[in-house]
Amino acid sequence: MLIAAAVGVLGVVTAVIVPTMPAGAAASTLGAAAAQSGRYFGAAISAGKLGDSQYTTIAGREFNMVTAENEMKIDATEPNRGQFSFTNGDRIYNWAVQNGKRVRGHTLAWHSQQPGWMQSLSGSSLRQAMIDHINGVMAHYKGKIYAWDVVNEAYADSGGGRRDSNLQRTGNDWIEVAFRTARAADPAAKLCYNDYNIDNWTWAKTQAVYTMVRDFKQRGVPIDCVGLQSHFNSGSPYNSNYRTTISSFAALGVDVQITELDIQGASAQTYAAVTNDCLAVARCAGITVWGVRDQDSWRSGDTPLLFSGGNKKPAYDAVLNALNAASPGGPDPTPTPTPTPTPTPTPIPDGCAATITTTNSWQGGFQSTVTVQAGGAAISAWTVRWTWPGGQSISSLWNGQQSVSGSSVTVRNAAYNGSIAAGGSTTFGFTANGTAATPTATCTSP
Ligand code: G3I
Repeated sequence: MLIAAAVGVLGVVTAVIVPTMPAGAAASTLGAAAAQSGRYFGAAISAGKLGDSQYTTIAGREFNMVTAENEMKIDATEPNRGQFSFTNGDRIYNWAVQNGKRVRGHTLAWHSQQPGWMQSLSGSSLRQAMIDHINGVMAHYKGKIYAWDVVNEAYADSGGGRRDSNLQRTGNDWIEVAFRTARAADPAAKLCYNDYNIDNWTWAKTQAVYTMVRDFKQRGVPIDCVGLQSHFNSGSPYNSNYRTTISSFAALGVDVQITELDIQGASAQTYAAVTNDCLAVARCAGITVWGVRDQDSWRSGDTPLLFSGGNKKPAYDAVLNALNAASPGGPDPTPTPTPTPTPTPTPIPDGCAATITTTNSWQGGFQSTVTVQAGGAAISAWTVRWTWPGGQSISSLWNGQQSVSGSSVTVRNAAYNGSIAAGGSTTFGFTANGTAATPTATCTSP
């Protein structure tokens, strides 16, 4: 009656029925549990399995985001140049939407799963084919996709450089051209860069992608999100610095999405850790697992997923419990700190200057970025010093070499970032224990 009366007054049903959990109640599916903190929980779905009722029952019940495992890739959607095919992509899209789920698009520009005609192209004709492909696929799904993996796996497995591919050989700017094309094709979709082995913060590949995203944000290349595929196994295991990776990307002003999660052996503890790391960062928007049951996985022998046949595995309970323990109503239990505004640049004489910015904080800890800027002349080495005001201590530092004496911190450049051009800058970062602080730092260069 109350609802009827309210509808009568307001005339809007959705203004009265708010689909949130009652305070204190635990959600019973992954999607609903993630939604309590404004996040999603998704799965990769395969069109060939939509006739399997055990599969669709689990997927329909548990997930509220869907990624097509193969059906929106280049070979599937443009098998012949200029001839688009969306039959299987649409089967997945329609199943998702009919079951109340959103859709991630995967993927538009990739060295792998290219149709034969594209594999044989190079140079400007390949560049044009890439642009045409992005336009053709994004036009078909315009306004319907939550986020597109615009570019997939463009970095080499080691060394911190780009992966060699026919796309890379069209020119180093192919990635930003793909993103600019995608923004114009569907301004409503979030645009992601997606890759594997960029989960461990200390790995060169992670740093390389971080540097690209930072550069894109600085130059206004349209990018909204980074997809951490997060295929964890003995060769690339989960590391506790994963949270630093997520918060560091987020601090650049992009969402982080965990896009293809699977964990060899499906340790409940590791699944919980991954979930908690996402929950700890406001801009970690959601998690997608790469398949529904172990038998659906591209690495089925690793039993890396949350279901075995129709049964929930211990990892399922660990993820659900972690999602339910997240603070309701908001993605981050701690307010996202406003980054310290960059001070109005005052001319730096020859030498260098350093500025500390807090990029994230939580109960008992924080993360900072330190910008080291060269003055009117190029420098070849730098040393930054500061004193902690209240017992803070660094737990992990990257892109620099630290030495600590009591509350005094000295950070010298790493082997690769001592040289800064006149007026240029570099950054290093750290996580620390204690209350967030931004002491004044001094910079000297020999
Ligand atoms: O559908 C055909 C089937 O008709 C044929 O008999 C069979 C014979 O090999 O192949 C089947 O196609 C396979 C397809 O998966 C569907 O199962 C392809 O050979 C196989 O190459 C393809 O593998 C996919 C792989 O990407 C290709 O790169 C996996 O399913 C898919 O899970 C995997 O997903 C990637 C992400 O897109 C990007 N990140 C890594 C991730 C795991 O490799």
